[in-house]
Amino acid sequence: MNVQKFISMKGKQPIVMITAYDAPFANIVHQAGVDAILVGDSVANNVLGYSDTLPATMEDMIRHTQAVRRGAPDSFIIADMPFLSYQCSMDEAVKNAGRFLKEAGANAVKLEGGSFYAPLVERLVKAGIPVMGHLGLTPQSVNVFGGYRVQGKDEKTAEYLLKEAKSLEKAGVFSIVLEMVVEETAKMITESLSIPTIGIGSGRYCDGQVLVLHDLLGLNPAFLPKFAKRYANLYQESLEAVQKYASDVRNRVFPSEENVFKVGG
Ligand code: KIV
Repeated sequence: MNVQKFISMKGKQPIVMITAYDAPFANIVHQAGVDAILVGDSVANNVLGYSDTLPATMEDMIRHTQAVRRGAPDSFIIADMPFLSYQCSMDEAVKNAGRFLKEAGANAVKLEGGSFYAPLVERLVKAGIPVMGHLGLTPQSVNVFGGYRVQGKDEKTAEYLLKEAKSLEKAGVFSIVLEMVVEETAKMITESLSIPTIGIGSGRYCDGQVLVLHDLLGLNPAFLPKFAKRYANLYQESLEAVQKYASDVRNRVFPSEENVFKVGG
């Protein structure tokens, strides 16, 4: 996979993207044959224990992207630019984006926002850094939105989102994530662009889909957004495995004969 192949999948084949944050899970999603791995700033709430994505730092994102690259050496990896890594100055943004390719082995970066960031996107692309856009519900702006709200519900906001998407496309993004956009608006945007849209909570007509791995695997029993689907219940399975281990130790069932080293063995 590369940026050009990614673009060429539009209209031919649905694109499969998923998040991963560490080497073992990156290996699993690579073996499963996904088209792209997103090292999302959702590492903050899915792995680091925060309640939203805002606390993720550049150092967190570099460290996790490096781990994902080690776990999936041949995958197409997109790294999320964390909150305040690209909002403060253009130069800082270019340096931070470049670190993902230079130090962490990412193939591209993703950033949230529309036309305001078009000049930055243009500069990053000119510098050789492929950029994925992200519109609709942009979680780094949760405090401005006042919550995680569905976007593009009426004609005015749908037109606004389309304008923002076109501005990003013109600036050179190779794809745009549409998050929590009503299906009709996401469809209209998808049909209006020549680059692929990747939906999360944006219905059936995007060019591809992305899900958060931890939602899909059922690792967080307390949280399942309406748009996500649980394909496993790893929380329950993990809980039962650790309970069984604790019980085995307490009942002297583990370690057993086969787990021990012996003199001369
Ligand atoms: O960080 C993330 O997981 C994301 C997805 C929701 C697209 O940006």
